[in-house]
Amino acid sequence: MVHFSDRAISIRPTGVRRMFDLAGEDSIQFGLGEPDFQPPPIAIEAFSRAMREGRNKYTTTAGLPPLRQKIAETWHHLDPSLDKSNVCITMSGTNGLLDIFLALVNPGDNVLLPEPYFPLYPTDVVICGGEANMYPCTFENGFVPTISDLQSRVDENTVAILYNFPSNPTGGNVTEAQRDELVTFARDNDLWLITDEVYDRIVYDQEHVSFLGAGYDKVIMINSFSKTFAMTGWRIGYLLSPDDEAMAQLTKMQYYVTACSNDAMQYAVLEALENASDYPAQMRDEFQVRRDLICERLNAMEGVSCHIPTGAFYVFPKFDIPGVNSEELAFALLEGGVLCSPGTAFGTAGEGHLRFAYTIGREDISRGMDRVEIVLKKLRGE
Ligand SMILES: Cc1ncc(COP(=O)(O)O)c(C=O)c1O
Repeated sequence: MVHFSDRAISIRPTGVRRMFDLAGEDSIQFGLGEPDFQPPPIAIEAFSRAMREGRNKYTTTAGLPPLRQKIAETWHHLDPSLDKSNVCITMSGTNGLLDIFLALVNPGDNVLLPEPYFPLYPTDVVICGGEANMYPCTFENGFVPTISDLQSRVDENTVAILYNFPSNPTGGNVTEAQRDELVTFARDNDLWLITDEVYDRIVYDQEHVSFLGAGYDKVIMINSFSKTFAMTGWRIGYLLSPDDEAMAQLTKMQYYVTACSNDAMQYAVLEALENASDYPAQMRDEFQVRRDLICERLNAMEGVSCHIPTGAFYVFPKFDIPGVNSEELAFALLEGGVLCSPGTAFGTAGEGHLRFAYTIGREDISRGMDRVEIVLKKLRGE
């Protein structure tokens, strides 16, 4: 008999990847959330130089001290007390998330998670033996939770709450006043506050509003260079916390998950942070033009309402096509030559929505929107 764990068997592949695998070659792809840019050339050069210089070994688990120090300094405007001891380099945000739940969750514990969600969150909590306790982030409330929704879900087994702003998949973001309320909720309930800020450098119309330095130190931040420097395929990120004990436990988990991160790559990221610090803003400026374009096009279509996101590179429009659910709509669009993700790939609360990642050029966005318009008209029988 072939044996697999109940855990492995119970986990389903994510809906985002499933659509991607079905897409035709000429489809216009609003599917995967990765920048269509390359990492800064000086980082690529530093990477290969470091390898030539023999940086091909294990590093300490927490990572290269100068890189950790540099990362800590990038947050000094919010918390000047941070130093390298508050940072652990990971092999991506994905890796960091698993470390966090391994460090915080016991069987029977639950973690408050946003819905719609980045698909790894609930599965990671379950892999670590806990329960995913979902709270809604609705279109009507700008994809930010209300305190009463959080209050009605927290219980004696809740150990942590995860916030993700700017959000994947919604592009939702918080104001400082909203952030303060969400911090107060975590503090009043003595929860670990996990903040996924991997889109902190892709923010429009406002400064990034971080949960760090907001008056509560029981905070663990996940961050990543995937989006910041278009390094999705490199797999490098970090965990940061002002709490020393949290750092010790997280670093221990990191050891058992991957031992350490990639030696030479850490020199490359350090180079990017030191000498290409304006790179993320250049990408952000292009994403902002695309955001304006796609929102304008979607909002001009009958039966479509699109919230204007202030961060990340996703829109999560609401569709009102009678008798057609999100998945059917995503398949109809795929047949019409457009790949996007059904809102339900991010939880049942995503019903009625689609996610478009505007990580393709402006012309492709326009052509893709022409196709969406044609498919919607056909579905309405026009
Ligand atoms: C909200 C969010 N968190 C974390 C990640 C993980 O990013 P990575 O593993 O590439 O660092 C992603 C990737 O799409 C994301 O959207």
